[in-house]
Amino acid sequence: MADDAAAAAGLDAVIDTTVSHSARIWNYWLGGKDNFAADREAGDRVAAMLPSIVTQARADRAFLGRAIRYLAGEEGIGQFLDIGTGLPTADNTHEVAQRVASGSRIVYVDNDPLVLAHARALLTSTPEGRCDYVDGDLRDPEAILTEAVRTLDFAQPVALMLLGVLHHIPDTGEVYEIVRRLVAALAPGSYVTINHSTSAVHGAAMEEAVAHWNQVGTPSMTLRTPPQIARFFDGLELLPPGVVSCSRWRPRPTSGGQLPAEVDEFCGVARKR
Ligand SMILES: C[S@@+](CC[C@H](N)C(=O)[O-])C[C@H]1O[C@@H](n2cnc3c(N)ncnc32)[C@H](O)[C@@H]1O
Repeated sequence: MADDAAAAAGLDAVIDTTVSHSARIWNYWLGGKDNFAADREAGDRVAAMLPSIVTQARADRAFLGRAIRYLAGEEGIGQFLDIGTGLPTADNTHEVAQRVASGSRIVYVDNDPLVLAHARALLTSTPEGRCDYVDGDLRDPEAILTEAVRTLDFAQPVALMLLGVLHHIPDTGEVYEIVRRLVAALAPGSYVTINHSTSAVHGAAMEEAVAHWNQVGTPSMTLRTPPQIARFFDGLELLPPGVVSCSRWRPRPTSGGQLPAEVDEFCGVARKR
């Protein structure tokens, strides 16, 4: 989006288009159009330092699709709480879930005003299902849950989706506590799906790219190790293959049988007993 188009749409009253932002840089890497010059510049600089970042963003999004198809198709999950939604793009959570089960209900949550401004594209539910959008902050899980009950029945299983968002909470103790409080609200048989950035694959190159991101963009990012990411699933039944690079979570089989290259985004899916 050009900056003058943002002004025409009135978006410049709610967002600072001169400061790059995670949701819009992510949208740029995914090939979307809802980003501004500052986001593209920041995105290009990070990609110059770490060319694999674009593959990583796309692998993250492909994991979202595989995880939802599994949960909706094989586990019969019909309710999704997607926190840290991001800007609408191809194959949003409700589109994937409702293609499998048209009655699926989805609550999207994000704290970015631009995501809110584009929320209409996230609310194109099937007539049998339902979608809602909550302008909420992950750091206040109770406020999110209070609004989510308008659409989701927490007495029944829900899939909690925390994709690419937990690394925006810098305090590791706080982020474990947030996940614990959200999981406590879920019924047995619910699922927790997480992916989170790490530097386990690309090491210093990833760390430098994130340090740069933290100078130019908001919100900040905190990398965590795979064992730290695995701790989010404490007390839950982690499904095979466990916590792995998201490109390797149940990837589509290739003709040669080789696994896709790992990316610095590790993930897992777990069931609440
Ligand atoms: C990298 S994007 C991930 C988008 C999508 N979940 C995906 O995996 O493709 C991170 C999203 O988390 C949102 N976010 C960051 N901190 C948040 C917070 N404290 N509460 C709610 N959303 C947050 C950002 O606005 C952004 O839309």
